Amino acid sequence: MEGKKVSHSVTEQVRVVINSDLNGFDRLFGGQLLKWIDEVAGATARRHCGHIVTTAAIDNLAFKEAAYLNDVVVLIGKVTHVGRTSMEVRVDTYKEDPEGNRHPINRAYFVMVNMGEDGKPSPVPPLILENDGERMEWENAEKRRQLRLLRKKEGY
Ligand SMILES: CC(C)(COP(=O)(O)OP(=O)(O)OC[C@H]1O[C@@H](n2cnc3c(N)ncnc32)[C@H](O)[C@@H]1OP(=O)(O)O)[C@@H](O)C(=O)NCCC(=O)NCCS
Repeated sequence: MEGKKVSHSVTEQVRVVINSDLNGFDRLFGGQLLKWIDEVAGATARRHCGHIVTTAAIDNLAFKEAAYLNDVVVLIGKVTHVGRTSMEVRVDTYKEDPEGNRHPINRAYFVMVNMGEDGKPSPVPPLILENDGERMEWENAEKRRQLRLLRKKEGY
């Protein structure tokens, strides 16, 4: 199968926080943010493998900063690693101020699985790494993958 570059599937999405996105404290509801992050991870993975994907696991949902009504929220998805049928996607979320400065809200790592026509996990294209940053992400992703596989073996 032909490899795809990381840049091939990078996905950026911009959201503006509206009333229905808020929780009882007038802040962006964490569940709404998770939905947006999941959508970006799905679109990124789908661009890499060219098929429907499903979310197998999510790492890290610490919220560094709150977002409020009318805030501009930017989400960027990038494939960091691929296995046989799975892809790890990093999604960085920022709050963008009126000057265009981006303040990190969250960084999450998703494991997305390529679902074949038969509804079963199916092979994904190799990932072409083009620079040291991408190679370092890959190495770190290998460690996260080992931890996840250990957790799965332990039954959670
Ligand atoms: C994800 C799913 C398809 C994996 O099925 P499975 O029978 O475990 O299949 P496999 O063992 O072949 O795993 C497929 C890939 O997913 C990875 N994977 C499966 N469970 C995982 C977990 N808990 N954490 C990390 N990776 C996982 C495997 O390592 C494998 O990757 P690889 O081929 O790159 O090595 C299956 O568990 C599922 O359908 N889960 C529900 C997903 C869903 O509905 N998500 C929506 C949100 S509710």
